[in-house]
Amino acid sequence: DIKGWCFDLHGVITDSWIYHAMAWQETAEILGVTWTDDIQEQLKGRDRMDSLEYILQVGGIQDQYTLSEKQAIAARKNKRYLKYLQKMNPSDVLPGINELLADLQADGYQMIIASASQNAPLEIEKLGLTKYFTKVVDVTQLAHNKPAPDVFLKAAEMLELDVSECVGIDDGLVGVQSINAANMVSIGVGDQQILHEADIVFPSTTDLTIANVRQAFK
Ligand code: BG6
Repeated sequence: DIKGWCFDLHGVITDSWIYHAMAWQETAEILGVTWTDDIQEQLKGRDRMDSLEYILQVGGIQDQYTLSEKQAIAARKNKRYLKYLQKMNPSDVLPGINELLADLQADGYQMIIASASQNAPLEIEKLGLTKYFTKVVDVTQLAHNKPAPDVFLKAAEMLELDVSECVGIDDGLVGVQSINAANMVSIGVGDQQILHEADIVFPSTTDLTIANVRQAFK
C-alpha cells in the first residue's frame, strides 16, 4: 500500500523551474551556445554541474574549460537564480498542491522532497511549506543525481519505508527515469509524450489528488 509520497520540487511543487531555465539560458548565451526548447527540456531535473556539462556538450565546447572554471560558471548561474528566488513566496506554489499536501497530511501519509536542487530547503521555507516537508533529501551527500536512483532511494530510506510503499512524482524525464531506477511507482506531471516512461502521467498538478493516484494504481 502507498504510505510515502516523494516529490520533485521544480515543476511539481513550484513553477520556479522557469527561473532555472532563464538563468541557464543566460549562461548558455554567454558561453556562445544557442538556446533551444530541447536543451530546456533536457535540463529539467539535472543537477547544477550536470546541467552545465550538458550545455557545454551541446555547444561542443566541453573540453575548453577546466573544472575550476566550470565551477565558477555554475556558481555565477546560481547567483542569477538566487536573484530570481528572492521574490519567491507562497503564491508560487502550483495549483492544487496546497490542497494535496493538506489532504496527505490529514490522511497520515509521509512526504519528502526528492529534488536535485541544493536550494530546496530555502525554497520550501519561502513557499511556506515547512509544515508539510520536515524532510528534504540532501543531494550534496549523494554519489549520483537524477537520472540515477540515489535521490529517490534516499527519500524512501529517510521515510523509513520500502520503495514499494512509495510513489515518486516528477515533471522531468530524468526524474521519471530516476524514480523507475529506484523501483518506485512513477508519476509524471506534464506531457505524456515526453514522460512516456512514467507509470502514469497527469497533465497538470491540479490532477494530482489522492483519489486520482489511488484510482490509477488499483
Ligand atoms: C532542478 C532543476 O530541480 O534543480 C535544474 O530542474 C537545476 O534546472 C537543478 O539545475 C539544480 O538546482 P540547484 O538549485 O542545486 O542549482
